Amino acid sequence: MTAALSHIPCMNKSIQKMFEPLARRYELLNHIMTFGMDTLWRKEALRIAAENVAAGTPADPHADLNTGPNADLNTDLNATPSPGAGFSSVPAPELGLGVTPEHGRGLARRIWLDVSTGTGEMADMLSRRAGSGTTVLAADFSIQMLRVAARKKSARAGRMLVLAADDGRLPFRDASVDLVTISVGTRNLNSSRDALLSCFREFCRVLRPGGRFVNLETSQPRARVVRWLFHAYVNWLVRPVASALSGHRPAYSYLAASMCGFYDAEELATIIREAGFSRVKVAPVLLGIAAIHVAHK
Ligand SMILES: C[S@@+](CC[C@H](N)C(=O)[O-])C[C@H]1O[C@@H](n2cnc3c(N)ncnc32)[C@H](O)[C@@H]1O
Repeated sequence: MTAALSHIPCMNKSIQKMFEPLARRYELLNHIMTFGMDTLWRKEALRIAAENVAAGTPADPHADLNTGPNADLNTDLNATPSPGAGFSSVPAPELGLGVTPEHGRGLARRIWLDVSTGTGEMADMLSRRAGSGTTVLAADFSIQMLRVAARKKSARAGRMLVLAADDGRLPFRDASVDLVTISVGTRNLNSSRDALLSCFREFCRVLRPGGRFVNLETSQPRARVVRWLFHAYVNWLVRPVASALSGHRPAYSYLAASMCGFYDAEELATIIREAGFSRVKVAPVLLGIAAIHVAHK
């Protein structure tokens, strides 16, 4: 598995390594820590994402993918996968997952892409909403996470395709994707403001004009008392309990620190705008503990 992991070029190896061992219990721990609310948040993000997204001109199939600035990272879906080249570099037979040339030939005209997909919960939901003219792609750089995603019913039924890729260098042509979603993954792209900005720019690059970006992430409640309670809950309950249940203390210490130190909704909206998006709107969730940002290219 380590060998497979090393095939995926990525800009943040420590984050990539951190997520690998969490995959098996990832969903369960999320549901426990949020009392199941994470699913409701994803559903709300999905509702917003699917709203009106079918409108507009679908992207041209086949012509869209795997060229342009990231050509080094990617190969044409219709070509033989080559080692060291983004998702195509993940040997599908070895892993039992990944987008193959055969999948490439069958890609629908409209593409919905869930980045930092983890175990693919959001992508799975998207695939239930997507019509037959839409391909849902679930992308992540953790092979173990993708393995879990690949076991989802929608993946086995071919309604969701799983691919290994770094959010900072997506294997798509400019203006080739109709919708980009990310759920509770943005904090991990924020090793610095510039790093986050460059990932947002990458999402903007692959979206076609008029395409939509939907970002669900924890946030900072405006009311001081709520913010204090939220941080106390994360530090005093989530961190020790999830550390004990998962056996991966550093990962959940990181989680707590990244949640408490993340941007508030206004600042995140500013960064999204800086990345080239327009019409950025924010929907606060649960007193501002989380926020859903919607933006257009
Ligand atoms: C907190 S999980 C979120 C998973 C999922 N979206 C959800 O709703 O639960 C973050 C995921 O982002 C992935 N990730 C972090 N940085 C990434 C990057 N630069 N490129 C691709 N995936 C990344 C990790 O491997 C992990 O699976």
